[in-house]
Amino acid sequence: MALQLGDAAPDFTAESTEGTIHLYDYLGDSWGVLFSHPKDFTPVCTTELGEVAKLKGEFDKRNTKVLGLSVDSVESHNGWVGDIKDATGQALNYPLIGDPDHEVSNLYGMIHPNANNTLTVRSVFIIGPDKKIKLTITYPASTGRNFQEILRVLDSLQLTSGYQVSTPVNWTEGEDVIIAPAISDDDAKEKFPKGFRTVKPYLRYTPQPNR
Ligand code: BEZ
Repeated sequence: MALQLGDAAPDFTAESTEGTIHLYDYLGDSWGVLFSHPKDFTPVCTTELGEVAKLKGEFDKRNTKVLGLSVDSVESHNGWVGDIKDATGQALNYPLIGDPDHEVSNLYGMIHPNANNTLTVRSVFIIGPDKKIKLTITYPASTGRNFQEILRVLDSLQLTSGYQVSTPVNWTEGEDVIIAPAISDDDAKEKFPKGFRTVKPYLRYTPQPNR
């Protein structure tokens, strides 16, 4: 069965452009983003890998390790790295796993046979410091991902893991958040000293509590 939210992220050992990766050791106490690419030397993947390299500082700020995977070999990846730099101006600054035997791809269900028998789809997994799966997204090979959205979800996950709030539609860092419906108004007054406004009894907004 496909990996679901709350499942333990399968640990693995694999070769990468930065040497052997043991997933749990690589992640340590950090958050993680594991994302797959269908194939080396392909245009959309080239743009995505460059973009993640550009955003590496943003992932670092969020205590998040990034880890790419493409089904070709590390040797092939090493040949592609120069193209990524030429095409996007970004040097690869995080590991890209080689998975020619599909060991990691199969472990994470990244190959969807009805889409393609041998190539991975564009999967994204966010893994929490507890090594549990916090988010899965699957894009088709023809659609490049929006990594700003991945950063946005990380902000939401990290906020909501520490406070009894959730984040509304299109929320971004700094905007008001929603108080969990299970909290009474009296408790909300104590827990959220910046105050709150009630739109419906179950929809109460408060300023982001960790700012
Ligand atoms: C691409 O990265 O451009 C791509 C890879 C595999 C299939 C389609 C597009």
